[in-house]
Amino acid sequence: MKKLAILGASGHGKVVADIALCSGWDDVVFFDDAWPQKSSLGPWQIVGDSADLIGSLAQYQGCVVAIGDNIIRYQKQKVLMSVEADLVSLVHPRAVVSPYAILGVGTVVMAGAILNPFAQIGDACIVNTGAIVEHDCQLADAVHLSPQVALAGGVCVGVASWLGIGSSVKQLVNIGAHVMVGAGSVVLADIADNSVVAGVPARPLL
Ligand SMILES: CC(C)(COP(=O)(O)OP(=O)(O)OC[C@H]1O[C@@H](n2cnc3c(N)ncnc32)[C@H](O)[C@@H]1OP(=O)(O)O)[C@@H](O)C(=O)NCCC(=O)NCCS
Repeated sequence: MKKLAILGASGHGKVVADIALCSGWDDVVFFDDAWPQKSSLGPWQIVGDSADLIGSLAQYQGCVVAIGDNIIRYQKQKVLMSVEADLVSLVHPRAVVSPYAILGVGTVVMAGAILNPFAQIGDACIVNTGAIVEHDCQLADAVHLSPQVALAGGVCVGVASWLGIGSSVKQLVNIGAHVMVGAGSVVLADIADNSVVAGVPARPLL
C-alpha cells in the first residue's frame, strides 16, 4: 500500500492528489497548518499540521508539498528535506516528459504538460496543466508555470518566479529570480530579478 502525504490542502492540493492517485499511489492524506480548524478537503482527510507530518513521516512512502505560493512551498520543502523526508515528484500519466528531460525533487507536472528533450526543471516546481517547456529550457527551483504557459527553446527562469496563465516566452530569453509575469503576456526580452511584468510585449507594471 503506497500512501502519500501531501502538505497543503488547497485547490492546488486537490490537483496534486488527483495526479498521485492516477499515477500509482494507493492513497493520499493531507497535512495543513490550518488544521484542526480545517479537517477535510473534498473526499480527503487532513490529519495534522506541518509538525505532525514531520513526526509521522515513517507512516508514508513519500510526501510532496502542494502549496501554490512559491516561497512558502520552497521553504516547507527545504524543512522536509532537512529531516530527510522522502520527497517525491509527480507526473500526470497524460503529461509528456522526454526521457532526456530532468525533473527536480518535489516537482509536479500536470495533465497535458509537455517537457521536451534537455529541459531541466528544478526542485519544488509546478508545471501546470498544458504548459509547454521546449528543448534546453532551464527552470531553477520553486518556479511555477501556470496553465498553458509556453516556453520556447533555451529559455531560463530564475528561482521562485511565477509565469501567469497563458503567457509565452521567446526562445533564449532569461527571466530572473522572483519575477511575476502577468497572465497572457508575451515575453520577448530578458527580465531582471524581482520584476513584475505584463502585456504584449511584456513591460514592467508600475
Ligand atoms: C500581473 C498581476 C500579478 C498583477 O496583479 P495586481 O498587482 O493585482 O495588478 P492589478 O490587477 O491592480 O493591475 C494593475 C494594472 O496592470 C494591468 N494588468 C494586470 N495584469 C495584467 C496582465 N496580465 N496583462 C496586462 N495588463 C495587466 C491592469 O489592467 C492594471 O492596469 P491599469 O492600472 O491601467 O488599470 C495579475 O494581474 C496577473 O496576471 N496574475 C496572474 C494570475 C494567474 O496567472 N493565475 C494562474 C494561477 S494557476
